[in-house]
Amino acid sequence: MALHIEKIAKSRISEVDFNNLQFGHEFTDHMFECDFVDGEWQTPVIKPYQPILFDPSAKVFHYGQAVFEGMKAYKDDDDQIWLFRPDQNQERINISAERLDMPAFPKDLFFEGLTTLLKIDSEWIKKGEGNSLYIRPFIIATENGISASASNRYKFMIICSPVQAYYAGEVRVVIADKYSRSANGGVGYAKAAGNYAGSFYPAKLAREKGFQQVVWTDSCTHEYLEEAGVMNVFFRVNNTLLTAPTSDRILDGITRKSIIQFLESEGINIEVRPIKVTEIVEAARKGELLEMFGAGTAAVVSPILGFSHQGENFELPKVENSYASFIKKSITAIQQNKAEDKFGWRYKVK
Ligand SMILES: Cc1ncc(COP(=O)(O)O)c(C=O)c1O
Repeated sequence: MALHIEKIAKSRISEVDFNNLQFGHEFTDHMFECDFVDGEWQTPVIKPYQPILFDPSAKVFHYGQAVFEGMKAYKDDDDQIWLFRPDQNQERINISAERLDMPAFPKDLFFEGLTTLLKIDSEWIKKGEGNSLYIRPFIIATENGISASASNRYKFMIICSPVQAYYAGEVRVVIADKYSRSANGGVGYAKAAGNYAGSFYPAKLAREKGFQQVVWTDSCTHEYLEEAGVMNVFFRVNNTLLTAPTSDRILDGITRKSIIQFLESEGINIEVRPIKVTEIVEAARKGELLEMFGAGTAAVVSPILGFSHQGENFELPKVENSYASFIKKSITAIQQNKAEDKFGWRYKVK
């Protein structure tokens, strides 16, 4: 099935101020699109970035049958373009799709579409510290009709947005003791659109109290720490890093698993095990909680400066030799082709 390519007449790139990008607000000239009809993925197309037209009854609007991915492309000083572990995103979108009863998108089409799109829009990937292209593949249910059942039509798309270094500002978090983003047997491990919709309200309540994010706990007891906002979460107690094991409530983050593998190879103590809220509160009281950080594609590592638990606020100390900054520097260097890739994580686009 040949990929059909329709290029724009004139690039919009000269209209974009690459030094003042708001995360996820500008998009490249082209997008990739492939429809699932009559039980089959049809001929994919790359075409000018443009709005898509749907019937108001399309199932995605009513039942949230939608999954997505987030990944980044980097350009090195020799103009080579790199992805970071794209095989993991390709596998994960199909894991998410299966949970929402959506068809898997074939691996060969995913890679052909993605790499061709990146080559066509390669001018949008800027070199230099912090610059990258954020890539958003997604699948949505496009069948018309508001009967509550899985769609028989879907659209797979990839859109791309140039971004600068992600800096969330000073981040302090509230440990969730009422709301949950996921539950046992639910869809928390999937990158399902509805997971994010459900997290916005608790995040707003946290912001109203002066906190930028929510640290999610297990939905049954709120006793175990699971994720931070839309990132996996790590805690440094003395010189040991802790992170929760993945489960059906936690997204199997690619940054998280890369950090674990990297730390093991560096000989830094890392424990992957259930982490009790009380254990972290105790460590904070004793001054043994030295760092907390989120891990995810957008920021790689995002330090957390303090947290609130049942109305009590804790501030983390300022540490020298922060693990968070060491990890961020090391992983970013691998992503940008500035360090040896001993794990085979980089994927060359061109
Ligand atoms: C809920 C959630 N957890 C964790 C992550 C981090 O995953 P990754 O490192 O694959 O970006 C993300 C973002 O992608 C997320 O949305």
